[in-house]
Formats: sequence, structure tokens, C-alpha cells
Amino acid sequence: MKKKLIIDTDCGSDDAVALIMALREPRVEVKAITVTSGNCPMQQAAKNVLQSIYYAQTYQPPVYKGTSLPLWCDYEDASQVHGIDGMGDCPWLKRPEDKFEAEHAVDALIHYVKQEKGDLEILAIGPLTNIAAAILQDPQTMRSISKLTVMGGAHPYNNPHTVSAEFNIMCDPEAAKIVFDSRIPITMCTLESCWGTMRFEEEDIQYFKELNELGSFCMDINRVMINAAKKNRGVGSMDLPDAGAFASITCPELIENCFDAFVRIETSGTYTRGATIFETKEHHYRNDFIPNCQVVTKIDGVNFKKYLANLIK
Ligand code: RIB
Ligand code: CA
Repeated sequence: MKKKLIIDTDCGSDDAVALIMALREPRVEVKAITVTSGNCPMQQAAKNVLQSIYYAQTYQPPVYKGTSLPLWCDYEDASQVHGIDGMGDCPWLKRPEDKFEAEHAVDALIHYVKQEKGDLEILAIGPLTNIAAAILQDPQTMRSISKLTVMGGAHPYNNPHTVSAEFNIMCDPEAAKIVFDSRIPITMCTLESCWGTMRFEEEDIQYFKELNELGSFCMDINRVMINAAKKNRGVGSMDLPDAGAFASITCPELIENCFDAFVRIETSGTYTRGATIFETKEHHYRNDFIPNCQVVTKIDGVNFKKYLANLIK
């Protein structure tokens, strides 16, 4: 029985690799892809989703455009990491014609969850604005999904995006608070989960570039990130947090460190807005600890790369 999945994305270059993996994974059926703003504006992210589907060369799930702005704060992109178009600004790469569903992504999320009677997982790899809006519109339906996997958050001292916040949470902290307060079963793959052996070093990037056209596409679209790493760290490496979050669904054996936590989202604070705060059993001397999330902080990168290569071949 295939795992039915909806992917909500701000389709930048690491999201694209996650989408390609999901579309080429025989154990998964991607029922729909919903789009929000984040790495790049939603309209561009939607085009990037179609490009990813085109290069995946499998089937074409319906694509639904969603929210363009955060619930409360100003929109901020991540062009310094993913390029202006979110896909490495590679003009030589092919792009298919636009083909989007008329229904809004938020309505689509609710209708798919109702249609599948909760036998559906959601992978959220961008800011959580669409997911939060669906919860506000129909909390009972959204609480019926079997699992929500979120790529987001980080331990406060691990945040390169701002001093205290990971990008997906920082983009829309109010949306994240709604999601983490919703009582939906959540697994959160934090930013740390794409570091260590998960980091693509120069030899990994060369291997995938030489693997085939799809491997080369997955590396080319991440060239802005790779070049930024070369400039800042002296080594042209790259991180694929969204792809790691996808793999945590299909290959839980790759998870090397996870713990239960009650995750709180900081929505105020001059320096702490967007921070993810992890209360664990150790913080609760009483025995009334009730987690709202399984937090994944480490993934086996050696076997993840083998998994990615097998899906791309
Ligand atoms: O912090 C990493 C996350 O922000 C990833 O989802 C990346 O695509 C960006 O959206
Ligand atoms: Ca993303």
C-alpha cells in the first residue's frame, strides 16, 4: 500500500530535490503539491514545482497555488541561498508550460484530508502559512491527518539565518505557533539534521553531477548555495534539509537522533522571534509531560546519499 503524501513547499533548490525524490519513490503516491512563499515568491515557487516535476520524469500530481504572504509579518526571501528564481538562476535548464489547479492550496489541503479520511501524511518544507490557514479554516479535519512532517526549527545556538531562528519558522512564526498548538501529530526535522554526514561535500557534488542529467540538475540548481559556501567557508558544499525531511518519512532507519519535546514557537522578542524552544521530559520534574512533537536532529548522511542516488538512477 503506497503512502499517500501531500507536499507543501516554497520550492527552492533543496525543496526540488525532495520533490524529485518523492516523485521517484515507488512506495509513495504524491497526491498533490501545495505552494507558498518563502525561498522565493509563491508565483515563482509554483513554476519551480513544475520544473521539478518535469525533471523527475515520472507522474504529474496537481499543483495548487497558495498563500503569497505570511499571516502577520513582512515577507522575506532567501535569494542569497537559492538565487533570484529559487533554483540557482540557471537559464540553460528547461521549464515546462504553466499548469496549475484553480482551487486555492488551503482549500485543497482540506479537501484532500477529507477525501482520504485522514489516511494521508503532509510534508511541509517551507514556511507554515498554508498549513496554519487550513487549520484555522477547518481544525477538526486537519487534526485527522496521520502525521505532519515539518522541516524547520533549530536549537537557538544553531541558527545561521538569524541569531535565533531557522528560515521556515522565522518567515511566519504565528503560522508555526498555530501548527504546533494544533495537536496534529508532528515530526520536526531541524536544521541540524542536514549537517554532519548529511552535508554534500565537493566530492559528493561531483559524483551526482556525473551520475546522469537528473543528478546534474539537482546539483546545478543548488549552485548559489554551493558558491556561497565556497566564499564563506572556503569549501563548495551544500545542505539539503528538505530532502532529509522527506527521507525521514520513507526511511526512518536513517534517523540517528530524535527525542520527544513540547515545542514552543517564540512570536515576540526583539532578538528571539521565530526561535523554537524545546521542552523535554528532563525539564518537567512532574510526570505530566505531554510532547507535541518528535524532534529529529541527526540523519545518516552516508546512507541518505545512497538512497538519493538509487532514486535518481
Ligand atoms: O532553513 C532551511 C529551510 O528554509 C529549507 O526548507 C529551505 O528550502 C528554506 O525553505
Ligand atoms: Ca523549503
